[in-house]
Amino acid sequence: MTINNRGLFLKKGLSPDELLTEMRHARTADVGWENGQSWGLVYHAGKEVDQIIKEAYTLFSHGNALDPKAFPSLKKFETEVVAKTASLFNGGDEAVGAMTSGGSESLLLAVKASRDQARFKKPDISEPEIIIPESAHPALDKAAHYLGVKTVRIPLDTDFRADLDTLRSSVNKNTIMLVGSAPAYPHGVVDPIKELGELALERDINLHVDACLGGFMLPFLERLNYPVPPFDFRVPGVTSISADLHKYGYSAKGASLIIYRYPELRRHQFFVLTNWPGGLFGSATVTGTRPGGPIAAAWAVINYLGEEGYMRLAKEVMETTRILQDGIEKTGKLEILGRPVMSVFAMGSSQLDVYTLADLMAEKGWQLGRQHNPPALHFIVTPPHTKIRETFLSELEGSVHRVKEGPEACEDAAALYAMMGTMCHQSDLKTFTLNYLDQTYRL
Ligand SMILES: Cc1ncc(COP(=O)(O)O)c(C=O)c1O
Repeated sequence: MTINNRGLFLKKGLSPDELLTEMRHARTADVGWENGQSWGLVYHAGKEVDQIIKEAYTLFSHGNALDPKAFPSLKKFETEVVAKTASLFNGGDEAVGAMTSGGSESLLLAVKASRDQARFKKPDISEPEIIIPESAHPALDKAAHYLGVKTVRIPLDTDFRADLDTLRSSVNKNTIMLVGSAPAYPHGVVDPIKELGELALERDINLHVDACLGGFMLPFLERLNYPVPPFDFRVPGVTSISADLHKYGYSAKGASLIIYRYPELRRHQFFVLTNWPGGLFGSATVTGTRPGGPIAAAWAVINYLGEEGYMRLAKEVMETTRILQDGIEKTGKLEILGRPVMSVFAMGSSQLDVYTLADLMAEKGWQLGRQHNPPALHFIVTPPHTKIRETFLSELEGSVHRVKEGPEACEDAAALYAMMGTMCHQSDLKTFTLNYLDQTYRL
């Protein structure tokens, strides 16, 4: 480890002006998300919503939801956000839930609740397994890894949805939970939740729906009469749903939800220690201290936007998605993979190298996520893309023409999730990725 001057405390602190100048300057290197240059990471609903977030977040930035008695305000906000979302997902009177720090924590809690429920109800299971489609988010593997649960990944059908036959035959006496995504991150496709629900009921196992991406889009699209496949608690067999407030909920980062069909399952999410000298310890979620800012901001945003606001944003985003998809297909060289249901999709090509295309677009400032199996570029469309969609399409067309004459990319390229990169000729991908993380976070 090397520590340079950046690692030393200043003898004397900076003035507010100096600090903010330095921070504003640092920000100039960040991706231009307010101008629609990134296709993921940030979900921005405009300046007014931004202002609401800032004020609500600042007001509660010292608040700690660890102690609901000390902060009844945060308890009220959390309970109301959970209740409103549970009813958005048609949870019955028994539905309960919790706010978490993000999709990964919500998924971790869903896996923990299922694991601990199985320990209680099915003590014969010593090696619990969850079955997830190939397209499900890796946060599930991470959760299973942390919790000592085995993950079984199921191949996708030709539409990029979980292959039901393989799924059915993979359920065994150790299976505790199935997962379907609504939609899955890579291709924006919703898994066959209804059929998964039937299987879950038949085999007496849980079904978690990962609606981290779609939770605050699909219900509003349904109200706008877009075709939305069944994904929520109306589907018998669905036992829990995760949904991210910091994605299409348009709230500040650090806010997600896990909602359960009934309270007994949520009890298995909790952690309790009774003999600690510090007192009875009961913790609802993963974190101890629970920052007030994200909870307050989420409450403020959903009450500021209301149904009308979310429907207006959903309509705008879908309109832009359609224009982008039409423009992409018009190039004659690129295609949309599968049948995405909302504003998340992947673009592939059987005629040109999409990674070279991404490099050319990056030269123009567009950060496109790269995927593999098959090679594709990833889009999450948000309101700022409305203003740039025509410019983007014309630069895409220009780049498509240049790729035809451009260099051949390597055949064994692997794409890096959330890192906007591709790499060639690496046989040991795990070591490569570990080295990448070591290097990225060096001091
Ligand atoms: C479908 C899905 N689930 C879970 C996650 C993980 O969410 P987070 O990055 O907030 O932990 C993501 C992130 O993109 C996602 O798309």
